[in-house]
Amino acid sequence: MTTISLQLQLLTEDDLPQVLELDQACFGGLWSKDGYLREMASPNSTLLILPLPNDGDRLMGLGCLWSIVEEAHVTIMAVHPDFQGQGLGQLILLGLLRDAWLRGLERATLEVRESNTAAIALYEKFGFQVAGKRKGYYQTTGEDALIMWRKGINEQKFPEQLNKWEKMVGDRLRQNSWRFQSEYNRE
Ligand SMILES: CC(C)(COP(=O)(O)OP(=O)(O)OC[C@H]1O[C@@H](n2cnc3c(N)ncnc32)[C@H](O)[C@@H]1OP(=O)(O)O)[C@@H](O)C(=O)NCCC(=O)NCCS
Repeated sequence: MTTISLQLQLLTEDDLPQVLELDQACFGGLWSKDGYLREMASPNSTLLILPLPNDGDRLMGLGCLWSIVEEAHVTIMAVHPDFQGQGLGQLILLGLLRDAWLRGLERATLEVRESNTAAIALYEKFGFQVAGKRKGYYQTTGEDALIMWRKGINEQKFPEQLNKWEKMVGDRLRQNSWRFQSEYNRE
């Protein structure tokens, strides 16, 4: 079976039109161009994008974390609706957790809509657990947010866990004829 190689990349200015298109498709316009430029400029932010191979004009997904003291705060996670359910969200989250480990952080945290079962299932796969709730967090709907934590990123056994997840994600992606390179260009 032929597989197509995927690689996560750090966001660059050249990718801004595509990233805004993806943001629009997934969230109806969550962050502005200036917002993305700020992420690129901040040493405390890692914004990973997943380009569609052999198509410079499309992104399949993105994920971002902020490093705040000892925490990796996952601020955005999205896979374009055309590409959901193929394991790409897992690939992006794995990239962010690897980055959190490389930064020497202790835990990852995020907020997610209580009704977002797909995202919650994705986070639980990587050991995130519900740690609490923010009442009425989402202003448009008044919906509560679940606060989820993934502890133990700075534990000695975490690199072994990353390797296990790599295998899990690799197997999942192969079901949709994808493969991936675990490293991304940090320049
Ligand atoms: C949440 C999101 C990033 C998941 O991306 P994805 O590429 O579809 O996820 P994956 O294919 O990697 O799936 C990961 C796991 O999540 C779960 N999952 C995915 N889609 C699901 C669905 N529709 N219903 C229930 N569980 C689902 C499964 O456990 C899946 O693992 P499996 O396929 O091995 O069983 C994507 O749905 C998305 O961008 N949604 C819109 C934006 C959003 O809600 N972002 C999160 C904000 S906190």
